[in-house]
Amino acid sequence: MSNHPHPGHGQVAAPLAHTHRPSAHVHTSEDVLVDWETLGPFLERGAELHTPLYEQAAAWLRELLTAAGGTGPDAVRRVLDVGSGPGVVACLLARAFPDAEIVAVDAAEGLLERARARADRLGLADRVRTHLAEVPDGLDALGGADLIWSSKALHHVGDQRAAVAALAGHLRPGGLLAVAEGGLAPRFLPRDIGIGRPGLQARLDAVGEEWFAQMRAELPDAAADVEDWPAFLADAGLRAPRTRSFLLDLPAPLSDDARQFISANLTRSSEAFADRLEADDLMNLARLTDPEDPAGVTRRPDVFLLAAQTVHTARAQ
Ligand SMILES: C[S@@+](CC[C@H](N)C(=O)[O-])C[C@H]1O[C@@H](n2cnc3c(N)ncnc32)[C@H](O)[C@@H]1O
Repeated sequence: MSNHPHPGHGQVAAPLAHTHRPSAHVHTSEDVLVDWETLGPFLERGAELHTPLYEQAAAWLRELLTAAGGTGPDAVRRVLDVGSGPGVVACLLARAFPDAEIVAVDAAEGLLERARARADRLGLADRVRTHLAEVPDGLDALGGADLIWSSKALHHVGDQRAAVAALAGHLRPGGLLAVAEGGLAPRFLPRDIGIGRPGLQARLDAVGEEWFAQMRAELPDAAADVEDWPAFLADAGLRAPRTRSFLLDLPAPLSDDARQFISANLTRSSEAFADRLEADDLMNLARLTDPEDPAGVTRRPDVFLLAAQTVHTARAQ
């Protein structure tokens, strides 16, 4: 879940600040800084909750690889998960492509440690390995792949078009590049939650958009491009573009795990958007994240998780 925060980018709606360049810690403005390693537990829990969505996406990728002209999923021997974070999706891909080596690629070593521990726990350590690298400049040693997946990571790279082209350069003939970017802002709460002004999540989305724009503008090599992912794939020389969106629909009553995730998400929103939100909304966010408050998300009965993630794909010649 992106778990970086951002509505409309298929992320969870809270700005999970972090350094887009974890290794470099390049940043100019504290309020859009994201520390990826600190976010490890949050990223892992979020991605785990989104497992049904990622499984649907992986099944679709298998279909695409089977379609005319493709190599077929059984011919997939090497998969890269670029910007893998804690490796939840990398491990799902290992299950979806049982004959493949999966390489989780990320610029944050602490997250790759999580990915290795996870693969170990799941009995996948022989096929899931990790590679510390930064997009777009650190990819040379990556080698080729039949499938490259990148989920909610490329929007942390200044020149997204160049990043797509750099990844496409690692596809083997007939290989598939799948970029999970965009979708809908997730929803956790009814429009009217009985405290404060109705429409809190819509207001969080609006300030999240501002935060996201500032985050992107401050990235090194930030390019002011129209965010047209199919066009980026075509410019990279790939063919047969396809786009689909996948739904995560966890209705109320939610598990404790999902409630904890939503509470963490709203906590991050209140921290990252503190200067952008009205005082009454901040006060109500404090109530929503208070584990003792019956109106809080860990106790109220009506909290749910509804999310949509878009995936864009295209294939090498
Ligand atoms: C929002 S998380 C997404 C994690 C995972 N792909 C998922 O969908 O759950 C973004 C990830 O991209 C990584 N990242 C951000 N900028 C990067 C860069 N320039 N090169 C490599 N990884 C990067 C972060 O370390 C983080 O693990």
